[in-house]
Formats: sequence, structure tokens, C-alpha cells
Amino acid sequence: MYALLLTLHALLRWVVVIVGILAVGRALLGWRGAWRWTPLDARLSMIYPIVVDIQVLLGLILYFFLSPELAGVGGTPLGDVLADGRQFYWTFAHTFVMIVALALIHIGRVRMKRADDDAGRFRQTAIFYGLGTLAILLLIPWPFMTPYGRPLLPSPWT
Ligand code: HEM
Repeated sequence: MYALLLTLHALLRWVVVIVGILAVGRALLGWRGAWRWTPLDARLSMIYPIVVDIQVLLGLILYFFLSPELAGVGGTPLGDVLADGRQFYWTFAHTFVMIVALALIHIGRVRMKRADDDAGRFRQTAIFYGLGTLAILLLIPWPFMTPYGRPLLPSPWT
């Protein structure tokens, strides 16, 4: 169960990254270029929060029930957790920032729906989805992030 959910969480990261970059990229171009809001924009704006919701749900299950990264943390004094880069990353940084990113993306969706015109729709999407996606990109455990970095693809593919 742990291996399956971790593999799904690792793979779904790529869907989050690709859909996020498409949604934010189109929003920025549409905002600066005064484009019309098309059905493609509406679809990207709807799908992105759903994909991030599923990713966060998988993350919460790993966090509370399955991950060995969190298993030893319970009895450890808070100061030691904060001082250990790896424990700090998995206990607080990855989790907290990803949940903030999810909130930003949902706020962006609501504000996009309330906007009066296409320029407003693109602006709200560019700002809120943009900030959320930036936070996600910064807090993914990329391979170069020693000591908690992970491979670009989960083990069966590497
Ligand atoms: C968009 C949001 C998120 C993205 C893109 C993301 C991405 C990732 C990636 C790429 C990994 C490494 C997987 C591997 O080892 O190959 C990972 C691990 C993990 N994530 Fe997330 N994550 C997100 C949100 C969350 C949230 C909200 C939580 C907790 C509430 C969470 C908890 C975890 C845990 C516990 C692990 C490590 C599991 C382990 O190695 O045992 N993630 N995440």
C-alpha cells in the first residue's frame, strides 16, 4: 500500500507540474495579450485544482499513516526536528507549503469565476495559480535537494 501510494504521488507530481505550467502560461499570455477566454482555459482552470486536490489527499495519507519519514518523528523533541534538515523538510516544509499552494489555487479559482471579463479571468488565474505553482515547484523534493531529494521518476522506472 505504501509503495503504491508513494509511486502514485511521485507520478502525479508530473501531471501537477505540466497542467500547472500550461494553466499559468496561458493565463500570463492571455492577460498580457488581451486574449479571449476559451473553453481550453476554462478546462485547464477546472482540472488544475482537482489534480492538486488528489495529490494533497495522497500526501495526507502518506503523512499520517504510511510514510517512514514521519514514523520516527513522534517522540523527537521539536527542537531536534527543526534542526534536522531532512526531518524539517518532511514534517513541516513540504506539507505546509503544499497546503498553502492548494489554498492559493482554490482562491484563484473562486476569484476567476467572480471576474467580470476575460482580462480579469486571466489576471486572477495568472496571479493565484502562478503563486501556487511557484510554491509547488520550490517544494518538490527534486534530486539535487540533498538530503531529502528524490529521483525524477519512482524506482520501477529508474
Ligand atoms: C501539489 C502538492 C504535492 C506535490 C507536487 C508533492 C510531490 C511529492 C514528491 C515528488 C514526493 C517524492 C516521491 C518519491 O519518493 O519519489 C513526495 C513525497 C512525499 N509527500 Fe508530497 N507532494 C505534494 C503534497 C503533499 C502534501 C500536502 C503532503 C502531506 C500532507 C505530502 C506528503 C508527502 C510525504 C509524507 C512524502 C514522502 C513519503 C515517503 O518517502 O515516505 N505531499 N511528494
